[in-house]
Amino acid sequence: MDNVNETVQHIAKHLTPTADLAVVLGSGLSGALSDLEIQKELAYEEISHFPVSRVSGHQGKLSLCRVGEKIVLVLRGRFHYYEGYTMRGVTFPIRVLSRLGVRGIILTNAAGGLNRRYKPGDFMQINDHLNLMGDNPLIGAVDEEKGIPFVDMREAYDPALIKQGLAVAKRLSLPIHQGVLAAVSGPSYETVAEARFLARSGADAVTMSTVPEPIVARQCGMKVVGLSCITNSLWQRDAIGHSDVVDIGTTAAEALGPWLHAMLRRM
Ligand code: HPA
Repeated sequence: MDNVNETVQHIAKHLTPTADLAVVLGSGLSGALSDLEIQKELAYEEISHFPVSRVSGHQGKLSLCRVGEKIVLVLRGRFHYYEGYTMRGVTFPIRVLSRLGVRGIILTNAAGGLNRRYKPGDFMQINDHLNLMGDNPLIGAVDEEKGIPFVDMREAYDPALIKQGLAVAKRLSLPIHQGVLAAVSGPSYETVAEARFLARSGADAVTMSTVPEPIVARQCGMKVVGLSCITNSLWQRDAIGHSDVVDIGTTAAEALGPWLHAMLRRM
């Protein structure tokens, strides 16, 4: 918690006025919102105690932007469990954002399609998740006053904002689905048997990130919106590679910008 305090103080000193919304841009999606007027920016390396992303396709920058009336913090890049960070490390930025006054967050990611109707380049509004990472960011996060955080996750993704997200996507002619996101640790992609298992378990898409973040965001009382960019299908014949994931994400990032604008205005 001391580290959270120091990071909060550092960011609050450099990035003013304070933001009440945030967006996390995942693999290949860093280019979305590049049209926003950036008021101030910090590289992750400059922020005390902030982890540094080692994954290509992540810019590693925190920008303070204005969208209409709203002040928004945009995180270009996140930290992954498969990089060797603990769940606490992966969700450190969420705790920092909450302490900075952020009350609503949009989480984006790259995901593999398990639902056979999903094609690379499609989007999926996340309406629920399966945490299959084998760990939970709230383990050990005991609050001296409140005790163990038994967080209710049944409506983790804000139901009203899911509806709005789908409507906005349709209006923008984005290829959109809504579905369940499974999260695994990675970094290996799924075997055929694992993909079949996940699909039969009710997952529509699978990722190696994101899911720890709404868990902590809900503990902090934030409103959460989740959007996956389907970068590959688990049923495709050709090999799946990180560079393909980043390439599809980079193209999709352009289409994502207007959706993010519209959603931020509604939050
Ligand atoms: N599996 C897991 N995570 C992913 C995938 C995938 O196929 N594509 C993008 N992130």
